[in-house]
Amino acid sequence: MDTKRFYITTPIYYPSDKLHIGHTYCTVATDAIARYKRLRGYEVMFLTGTDEHGQKIEEKAKAAGVTPQQFVDKIVAGPNGILDLWKLMNISNDRFIRTTDDYHVAAIQRIFKKMYEKGDIYKGAYKGKYCTPCESFWTESQLKDGKCPDCGREVHDAEEEAYFFRLSKYAKPVQELLETGTFLEPASRVNEMINNFIKPGLEDLCVSRTSFTWGIPVDFDPGHVVYVWVDALFNYCTALGLLNDRYDDFDKFWPADVHIVGKEIVRFHSIIWPAMLMSMGLPLPKKVYGHGWLVIDGGKMSKSKGNVVDPYVLAEKFGVDALRFFLLRTFPFGSDGNFSNELLISTINTDLANDLGNLVSRITAMVEKYFGGSLIPERREEPVDEELISLIRQTPERYAAQMDKFQLHLALEETFRLIQRANKYIDETAPWVLAKDETNKPRLASVMYNLLEALRVALTLLTPFIPQTCEKAFEQIGADESARTWESACAYGVLPETVTVRKGETLFPRVDAAKMLQELEEAEKKARGPQVKVEPVLPDVTIDEFAKCDMRVCKVLKCEAVKKSKKLLRFELDDGSGVTRQILSGIHEFYEPDELLGKTVVAILNLPPRKMMGLESCGMLLSAVREVDGKEELHLLMLDDSVPAGSRLC
Ligand code: ME8
Repeated sequence: MDTKRFYITTPIYYPSDKLHIGHTYCTVATDAIARYKRLRGYEVMFLTGTDEHGQKIEEKAKAAGVTPQQFVDKIVAGPNGILDLWKLMNISNDRFIRTTDDYHVAAIQRIFKKMYEKGDIYKGAYKGKYCTPCESFWTESQLKDGKCPDCGREVHDAEEEAYFFRLSKYAKPVQELLETGTFLEPASRVNEMINNFIKPGLEDLCVSRTSFTWGIPVDFDPGHVVYVWVDALFNYCTALGLLNDRYDDFDKFWPADVHIVGKEIVRFHSIIWPAMLMSMGLPLPKKVYGHGWLVIDGGKMSKSKGNVVDPYVLAEKFGVDALRFFLLRTFPFGSDGNFSNELLISTINTDLANDLGNLVSRITAMVEKYFGGSLIPERREEPVDEELISLIRQTPERYAAQMDKFQLHLALEETFRLIQRANKYIDETAPWVLAKDETNKPRLASVMYNLLEALRVALTLLTPFIPQTCEKAFEQIGADESARTWESACAYGVLPETVTVRKGETLFPRVDAAKMLQELEEAEKKARGPQVKVEPVLPDVTIDEFAKCDMRVCKVLKCEAVKKSKKLLRFELDDGSGVTRQILSGIHEFYEPDELLGKTVVAILNLPPRKMMGLESCGMLLSAVREVDGKEELHLLMLDDSVPAGSRLC
């Protein structure tokens, strides 16, 4: 018999910042699908990783004063980095690829060369608008008011030598691929791709850059680095061993069964990716599934908006399984979902604490109380059992139908229907009434057994979502490994007649919403760090206008507080002219006079003199000012003492 195989991937994440709950959502969903497939008997290959090249990373590393490799190493493998996050979230990936791994780099060079030799990659000129200070090319539509979208400065027409991939050649087969079958799901994304990208005409894609170096070099043309998306997309193949010796299961697992990706990168996966695979003569993945975003107040999470939610904080407060569950139970996988802490707490309290947690603790407590932990073999069935038993029998199939369509929230809906039915069955059968009469013991044993069976099946179906909790709950209800399989879930009557239960810890304690919301606010504020307000750049001045400001280095000869003023300090300064200069500065709130004595500061000298508190101020000391957490923070500009008084700033 053929082994059933399943190859599933997440996108590989950019290690440009710490990952947030949106990234976690995507990985947890993929993990649940991978675990489900293993439960169904598939040999699964689950790949995730990091996409480490590109200009953005190069710039961030520069700003941080480290090499790009050091920068990504810290975010990927450092404390509380991406690897730690996946470990914490109990992600069961079989492989992890970093695009800076040697084997991947070498394989990408070979792939690039193959497409070049085939004539699908050719050398041309990249024409665009160029911003010299930013060293960036922009297209007309990317410009903001005709200027560089990054710095707001003038751009000019420019050309850069670059390699291009003949994407236009593949427009027709890619369109056919999208229009037939179920390559791209949800189906709603198909029209979007065809109408927005293919119909207007697919242009050849620029696949090399020369304006930065942090990328995979084109080995036959030094100075060019491979476009980051070519490098990134082929990870799905190199991680299996395509054109490298590190792994050798390409033939075993390729083509991928599904690439799970966020909606904004569907274009790359459903147009560019199949086109490049066609060029390489490789089979196409069976499916690309574009999931929605987690949004906050309707808008995307982003570091610049300061609204990213830290999965470490949530996992610590609620537990990993509660967080995993919330993400997959609440939001339909293909659509956007509005994240809020209130929703998180109410989902935990309703589904996990009330419905599931209560069911486990009620059943185990009753079996302990009424049977000393082990059921008796005698039974007495009644018609009321039928409805529950029939739901136990139907649920796995209904659940599987949803899981197979990646409708994870609906699969959980089916599972909770069973859990809620079991809770209702307790109320209908009232075991506490039955327990009052010894002759009802066989009836009571039937009731308990049916409940344990309902729970066993529900737990098996929940295992892909909340694996650690299910493990504990299986222990409590006396279900050994053989009772946790898919085949067992599809059968009724699997637990032994005299099953022994052991009541354990509460699986999901109820969350005190008001208290928790306050704690979360504080924890997230702390995790975000100080909130700095960034002032917009002022309108341009000419270099001549700037040169009119006479800014010079001064040494502080004397510094004292001005009497009756809370803010003002009086400085006597050596400005290099030989005449002592007096300047008043409102910085007492930030500095004590003594700490400034002898310091090397900078002043603008040619401001008209001003009188403050009866004293004349001839110039102004320069400081850096910024708003942090709504409060102004000031840092006097100081240079090292080797710079002589009177030196001009230019
Ligand atoms: O796109 N909600 O990397 P990435 C849901 N390196 N998903 C979200 C999200 C949110 N708020 N924010 C991000 C890249 N994501 C490329 C991929 S694959 C060959 C290269 C998802 O780190 C996003 O939609 O920016 C994407 O699928 C994934 O996180 C990685 O995003």
